[in-house]
Amino acid sequence: MTDLFKGIYKDKTVLLTGHTGFKGSWLAYWLSKMGAKVVGYSLEAPTTPNHLSLLDFKMISVIADIRDQQKLDETFATYQPDIVFHLAAQPLVRLSYDEPVDTFETNVMGTIKVFEAAKKTPSVKAIVNITSDKAYENKEWIWGYRENDPMGGYDPYSASKGCAELVVNSYRNSFFNLNDYGKTHNILLASCRAGNVIGGGDWAQDRLMTDIMLSVSQGLKVDIRSPHATRPWQHVLEPLSGYLAIGQKLLEGKQAFAEGWNFGPENEGSITVQKVVESVKEHWSDIDYTIAKGDKPLHEANLLKLDCSKANILLEWKSVWNSHMTFEKTVLWYKEYYTNTLISTEEDLNTYITDAKKKALDWTK
Ligand SMILES: NC(=O)c1ccc[n+]([C@@H]2O[C@H](COP(=O)([O-])OP(=O)(O)OC[C@H]3O[C@@H](n4cnc5c(N)ncnc54)[C@H](O)[C@@H]3O)[C@@H](O)[C@H]2O)c1
Repeated sequence: MTDLFKGIYKDKTVLLTGHTGFKGSWLAYWLSKMGAKVVGYSLEAPTTPNHLSLLDFKMISVIADIRDQQKLDETFATYQPDIVFHLAAQPLVRLSYDEPVDTFETNVMGTIKVFEAAKKTPSVKAIVNITSDKAYENKEWIWGYRENDPMGGYDPYSASKGCAELVVNSYRNSFFNLNDYGKTHNILLASCRAGNVIGGGDWAQDRLMTDIMLSVSQGLKVDIRSPHATRPWQHVLEPLSGYLAIGQKLLEGKQAFAEGWNFGPENEGSITVQKVVESVKEHWSDIDYTIAKGDKPLHEANLLKLDCSKANILLEWKSVWNSHMTFEKTVLWYKEYYTNTLISTEEDLNTYITDAKKKALDWTK
């Protein structure tokens, strides 16, 4: 696996915030398989069980808050990372209505503090910042958002990610300006926006797949809210391959990649919640559901799509799995876990890479 992404991650020190979370644990695992020295910086895992603790691999884990500038500075100074992947966040829309202050503090000020620590650390050459498709001002239209569309956000979570994108722009103009690259600084900063991701090992609250898997494991019916909401669904490995591809280009010093990037599924991956439930039932027939009635739901985006032409063309990045494979891999991961207490993360990663090689994707060559 060390030859993927032109072998750039082998022996690199990678500082990854959010490693105790869903996406971060997959990314930490993949990076370590590619021979990187992975240093994670996060709060304790947000859920029990959690994916990181089920995985068996070596990494350095610093349990601390991204709002703690001193601890961040110390960690960066100690480990001298080559590259930073910033994923730590309060990522839940519904929780952001209950805890708006925490959400903005973590997602906006926390991001600023991570950038400040990087700014003080001469070893850092690249930062890949992770936001969301929800960072875009959502016009609820049928077209996909492009990287140059305006940022926005109705609920506190989405707005905090829109703000984080403005922070990225400001830092790229003020401190990591391309005109000064190699003169007053050595950092290339990119930001990546992806949609709903699924895959094994996510136990976060109020996420559709998690709710379904938890319910079926307990023999319960799952309550489905917003059955007609359309979201892009992709396997967690899809945006991660995009983040790693961007990280590779930044580490190679390619300034044109220090920009915003969308990573979403092909059009067929944008489907309604109800269709998702029907598809997952094909892989685990015990799944049963009802459409939730009752209180007026909190506002959540209904129609949200990304235009990924930029990544498709300039980065030669593409989705590897269609929605059928994405749901199958996700459901079978949980089925294996709940039936045999085994996890299929390594197998899923290997299959994903094999399938990406069959498609001759640039990052596999
Ligand atoms: N999961 C999705 O569908 C999705 C979609 C779009 C964007 N994202 C983004 O991807 C990133 C990872 O999301 P996830 O789904 O893995 O979330 P998660 O909740 O599973 O993980 C969040 C991580 O951030 C850490 N964290 C939270 N607050 C912190 C703080 N104050 N200091 C240090 N660490 C803190 C947690 O400990 C955890 O490691 C987030 O930035 C999220 O906004 C996720």
